[in-house]
Amino acid sequence: MTITKQDELDGLKDIGRIVANTMRAMAQAMEPGMTTRELDEIGRRLLDLEDAVPAPEASYGFPGATCISVNEEIAHGVPGDRVIAPGDLVNIDVSASKDGFFADTGATYRVAPVRPSLDRLCRDGKRAMQIGISQVGSDKPLAGIGKAIGRFASDRGYTLIRNLASHGVGRSLHEYPGEIATWPTRGDTRRINKGLVLTVEPFLSTGGLWANGGEDGWTLYSEPRAPAVQYEHTVVATDRRAIVVTLPG
Ligand code: CO
Ligand code: CO
Repeated sequence: MTITKQDELDGLKDIGRIVANTMRAMAQAMEPGMTTRELDEIGRRLLDLEDAVPAPEASYGFPGATCISVNEEIAHGVPGDRVIAPGDLVNIDVSASKDGFFADTGATYRVAPVRPSLDRLCRDGKRAMQIGISQVGSDKPLAGIGKAIGRFASDRGYTLIRNLASHGVGRSLHEYPGEIATWPTRGDTRRINKGLVLTVEPFLSTGGLWANGGEDGWTLYSEPRAPAVQYEHTVVATDRRAIVVTLPG
């Protein structure tokens, strides 16, 4: 969507705060021995308390309130019997709607003890997202996001998953202007209009290039197999910079 009025921004910020609080609370509750279903149930309860509706389930029939992806799973992991173990990398992605506004946020968390290389990957994954967000502004090229993230990744010897794009969001989970690359592309001449609501969610990896679907029809795995992390915010383009709406509060 494109924000033109203050009450639209207020509605978007409200659901942005709700998904951010939900993700943070899930991360704080996460501990070894817990199943991903139990973690998802915490998220569902928190969304429900805020009268927010889980978007993957409502929009796509996803079997869960949130997406929880562990280790070799990099996105759209289905909550279930998998038990969270020490040393795991766990991605929690929360998207939901309230009063007709949708927001989407995600982050990868470490369950102690974690190898230093994975600590570094997580830290740099967050930086990759921030670098992408810094390219968001009125009339800037959409492809500038992937260009800047691509430079950061290649300078540090990382790869980017190239078929999991960022996207427009706001009045539905995935909407205009469609997919937005978080890797370098050619031929995308689109520009960011003032007030555009979009996600920035690069998948940074130590070797993964592509996400492939598994047998359950939802879970995505990195190809070739390698650790991958994702950090995601929903942002609004303004004349000066991006407003991040998925902040806890
Ligand atoms: Co998401
Ligand atoms: Co998203």
